[in-house]
Amino acid sequence: MTAESQVRVESDAGALALAAAGILREAARDAAQERERFVLALSGGSTPRALHRLASQEPFLSTVPWKQTHIFWVDERCVPPEDPASNYGAARKDLLDAVPIPQGQVHPMPWQAPARQAAHRYAGEMQGFFRLKQGAFPCFDLIFLGVGEDGHTASLFPGQASVEETERWVVAVKGGNPDLRRLTLTIPVLNRARRVVFLVSGAQKAPVVKTLLTGPEAPLPARRVRPVGGTLTWLLDRDAASLLPGDTAHENRSCP
Ligand code: 6PG
Repeated sequence: MTAESQVRVESDAGALALAAAGILREAARDAAQERERFVLALSGGSTPRALHRLASQEPFLSTVPWKQTHIFWVDERCVPPEDPASNYGAARKDLLDAVPIPQGQVHPMPWQAPARQAAHRYAGEMQGFFRLKQGAFPCFDLIFLGVGEDGHTASLFPGQASVEETERWVVAVKGGNPDLRRLTLTIPVLNRARRVVFLVSGAQKAPVVKTLLTGPEAPLPARRVRPVGGTLTWLLDRDAASLLPGDTAHENRSCP
């Protein structure tokens, strides 16, 4: 099945967060209705924070099926949850403390062990949840991703071997800003999702958005995200979309 991709442009960062919260609610309701559970993977960084805060308030607080929601992380920095760099810590403050998700359905990435062991342990936790045969990949209902000005996504940085991983679900890496040891889901896991949504805001991201969406094939990690049987949405604000040709937005087309 060919993946479909869509580019959607919202007026500003607030409208972007609202559109993302709408996508989350729709995906959650569909999944809960069809499969009795909604499996979501969250990214870190600054862009999703407005989404997380919105989703923790009405009307989303009472209309998302939180009790059937299971949350995993796309990536994590190996720091304790109290550290401002912790993706889990930020999501806890912005979202998780306010919504009725049973504690056992929240799956933060471990940060304490040596990173390689932690990656292995998280893959084991995912396996305990998804219960798949050897060689299979888990299917998230929805994955939110961000993109860096260098074209990284998750904690998959340009030029690093982790971008080429084809078997493991979770790997340990070092890099990014802040430059830390990190854990990240791998490209084959991202590409098995039912729906992947990139959230991108701000004029500083406009050049990379242009390269990723209209440029010649570039070996950037974000470019590797092409869900095999799912859909891909680029949700941009006007500043992030400012270098795109006028006909790119709102257009449904095959993945580049
Ligand atoms: C992380 C990420 C990373 C992030 C991008 C965009 O934990 O660092 O998951 O891939 O999504 O760097 O970050 P901003 O939203 O802060 O621009």
